Amino acid sequence: MRRELPMRLEKKSPCKVNLLLNILGKRADGFHELETVMQPVNLFDEISLERGGEGIQLSCNHAELPTDSKNLVYRAADAFLKLHNLRAGVRIHLQKNIPLAAGLGGGSGNAATTLLGMNELFGSPLPIQALDSIAATLGSDIPFFLYDQPCLATGRGEKVSTLENFPALAGKAFLLSHPGFGISTPWSYQNLARFPEALNGQTGRAQKLVSLLQTGDLQTAAGEIYNSLEAPAFDKFPVLSLYKNFLRENGALVSLMSGSGSTTFAIAENLVAAENLAEKFKSQFGDNGWLATVKI
Ligand code: C5P
Repeated sequence: MRRELPMRLEKKSPCKVNLLLNILGKRADGFHELETVMQPVNLFDEISLERGGEGIQLSCNHAELPTDSKNLVYRAADAFLKLHNLRAGVRIHLQKNIPLAAGLGGGSGNAATTLLGMNELFGSPLPIQALDSIAATLGSDIPFFLYDQPCLATGRGEKVSTLENFPALAGKAFLLSHPGFGISTPWSYQNLARFPEALNGQTGRAQKLVSLLQTGDLQTAAGEIYNSLEAPAFDKFPVLSLYKNFLRENGALVSLMSGSGSTTFAIAENLVAAENLAEKFKSQFGDNGWLATVKI
């Protein structure tokens, strides 16, 4: 019996934080070898996909984002259709809620969610391994978002080993603070060259952190939380280091910049503690950026 294909789908596109981002060195291809521990965050952009029309028609609520082949959502849909030699048309709307250039992987998540959505819309012709291969060609962080699970990633970030939820984070909550300006990922990596120690990390830190998070001891794990890309970001934007220290001094169990920035995240004991911390943060720094609290 032939299964009816959906005409239209609504998908939630999550974001992430890097609990650890340890750069191991620059590679011959210009990318950086790294090890990272990534944690999904339950804050979402929304993507609707509908079969119909001709080619790919992308719209977006965010005026700054292109809606042509410069947009990762467009490129993901295009790669999927080309792989199948499908001449079908698709209309996609992207509703951005997560800030841009924030170190939260919003755009990467959008690309992965589009791949998953396209596959569903066209009857799931591709296994996850095939989606993973397309994802890795589109961007280093994109494969992670196909799984919606914590992971340890290596290579340039595209080699993903999925993990069970970390016992150390059970019941905890995130506070995410975006300063109101973004940081470009290529800029961060280029400027890492000025910080040789941060550029040439020792391998093994990611596995160590994962083991600690798996035993449930967040206090010990907190000592291992690290991001090499804080070095160039804090040098250019000292306010980010103020954010990090303020959060830690006011009750956060952990605070760190995520990815290439500019978002700082804190981990609090529970959602109420995260909300209290957000209030303190606002009274100290004002209400100019983007602040969110969410259960892990
Ligand atoms: O892979 P993605 O397109 O997300 O990377 C954006 C940019 O970040 C790359 O062009 C590169 O400059 C830098 N990058 C890097 N090493 C990585 C990941 C990203 O140098 N592992």
